[in-house]
Amino acid sequence: MKVVGFCGSPRVKGNTEFLIETALNQLEKQGFETELVRLGDKKIEQCSGCYSCVEKKACSIEDDFSQLFQKMLEADGIILGSPVYHSSITPKLKALLDRAGFIGRWVVNEMKSADSTYQWKGTAFSGKVVAPITVARRAGQNFAFAQLLLWATVIDTIVVGSNYWNVGVAGKGGVVDADQDTEGIGIVTHMADNMGFVLKQLKK
Ligand SMILES: Cc1cc2nc3c(=O)[nH]c(=O)nc-3n(C[C@H](O)[C@H](O)[C@H](O)COP(=O)(O)O)c2cc1C
Repeated sequence: MKVVGFCGSPRVKGNTEFLIETALNQLEKQGFETELVRLGDKKIEQCSGCYSCVEKKACSIEDDFSQLFQKMLEADGIILGSPVYHSSITPKLKALLDRAGFIGRWVVNEMKSADSTYQWKGTAFSGKVVAPITVARRAGQNFAFAQLLLWATVIDTIVVGSNYWNVGVAGKGGVVDADQDTEGIGIVTHMADNMGFVLKQLKK
């Protein structure tokens, strides 16, 4: 089974990446295959709202999205990590989630007509296990964390928690010091144990 961590920070080896890696390392100890995917160097346009994926089941924008969406589909577990930017997740992660969430719905559903009632058959993400991680210097965690939770809970995933919200407190003045956040490390490690437990139960 595979868990993929998507890092919404533009910074390589920054605080968010550190906490995602902490969780992935813990999952590796439990026998999971893992992969870290940095969004910083990827080209991900925002959703154009063209709705062509409703019919074509493919995104009309040609950039790195298709490759990233494929990685999401191949994963049994998905960790979504973002630094907090003005109380929000970063634009690239938002763009990925908008496009993946929308097309992920339409690849397994049909829209008969614009005035018919939706009868969802699930999504491409149904049954996947998801956990959010956010990292901030001081404030704005709740909103960013909620953004990730709201995405995960509208597309039929199973969200795992921890013994506290999966938030890291790090990065004053831009430093990379998440390794000093022992509480945050403990929280994401426990989240990883929960994710591993849930994945193993689901695949029994
Ligand atoms: C554009 C920008 C906006 C930020 N906004 C916030 C904020 O709203 N609240 C906060 O506590 N920290 C804020 N920060 C600080 C980062 O969240 C913090 O440094 C974090 O550790 C960076 O994670 P990274 O190393 O993974 O990029 C901001 C940083 C940047 C560059």
